[in-house]
Amino acid sequence: MKLLVTGGAGFIGSAFVRTSLALNTVTRIVNLDKLTYAGNLENLASIDQDARYRFVQGDITDAALVESLLAEEKPDAIVHFAAESHVDRSIHAPAPVFETNLRGTFVLLEAARAAKLGRLVHVSTDEVYGSIDAPHEADEKYPLIASSPYSAAKAGSDLLALSYFTTYKMPVLVTRASNNYGPYQFPEKLIPLMISNALEGRDLPIYGDGMQVRDWLYVDDHCAGIRAVLEQGRAGEVYNIGGDRSLPNLEVVRRILRATGQPETLMKTVADRPGHDRRYALTSEKLERETGWSPKMDFDRGLALTVDWYRENRGWVERVRSGEYRRFYEENYGGR
Ligand code: NAD
Ligand code: DAU
Repeated sequence: MKLLVTGGAGFIGSAFVRTSLALNTVTRIVNLDKLTYAGNLENLASIDQDARYRFVQGDITDAALVESLLAEEKPDAIVHFAAESHVDRSIHAPAPVFETNLRGTFVLLEAARAAKLGRLVHVSTDEVYGSIDAPHEADEKYPLIASSPYSAAKAGSDLLALSYFTTYKMPVLVTRASNNYGPYQFPEKLIPLMISNALEGRDLPIYGDGMQVRDWLYVDDHCAGIRAVLEQGRAGEVYNIGGDRSLPNLEVVRRILRATGQPETLMKTVADRPGHDRRYALTSEKLERETGWSPKMDFDRGLALTVDWYRENRGWVERVRSGEYRRFYEENYGGR
């Protein structure tokens, strides 16, 4: 299968590119990524020389670029990861969220429609279901009650993508995953922020009472779920992808402190996130039933692997934080 991946230099997209090449599920991957603060070619250094791989720096809102890439590469499918992905950033500065997550998705859909593309997987999130009261879990028919500009833009792009199936019979599929964790995640999200701060002996900022619940999904399990949808999913359908591991934030942070050997006194309560969703919970029963996929990684093992990775890759964290990866890009790819 020949794929066009958007946002393949980010956390999940780069894991998808690395694992798909390693598993030989693709004959070619073209990675279209703007390289925002979250895009980092260091994440792809291990496969950069693979003859099946091509990187194109560009914006998914650039219709001419997307159209020319589809015409030139003739991929069998698009796997669409590119997004502004951080809720806090979307609260502080919503404009880029709507530009990329909504208009960017529209541009891709239009280009794919014109090219009569075989399949498009739109990678979305369980945040579109909003806060779920215990003990309920959201299935794919659960109402969309997005709380933040990020989740509202994702919900809008989900509906737009699905409308292309209903209206134009375009083979679009939507995945909605829970909170991912693992190596190469930008240290602004809960787990990588807490690990990198703990390793440096810095304060760990807990929003509000810290009893908000998230379902944790190891990034490679998410990528396997996306591949299952790409290969076996039914067009026009939504598939939840969850880790089956719900924990309150305080418990996650305590486990990180134990794994890094740091004291609980590093935890500091800070002002809560506006519009903070209390609990996410979803069922992936549909994906499991239709494709046989299930999450494989045990949370404590995945967390230990992730802590080890951040311990061994402090330079990556420093460069990501300092913006040095931009110089890395210019030095390594500027001439291309
Ligand atoms: P990320 O922020 O790590 O990476 C996003 C990537 O998209 C970056 O490489 C960035 O450069 C690129 N990008 C941003 N705007 C672009 C544009 N206009 N044109 C081209 N490229 C652009 O994000 P992530 O955590 O890897 O998330 C990937 C996708 O998965 C997103 O769609 C997100 O909504 C979804 N998702 C994330 C999670 C999670 O826990 N991180 C969970 C469920 C779903
Ligand atoms: O559920 C899937 C979503 O998970 C994805 O769609 C998003 O792209 C991804 O960012 C993530 O969103 P969250 O808002 O759940 O993740 P975040 O890591 O920002 O926060 C997780 C929880 O931890 C949330 O309850 C807020 C809290 N938190 C977060 C940070 C960054 C803190 O208490 N302190 C912090 O410093």
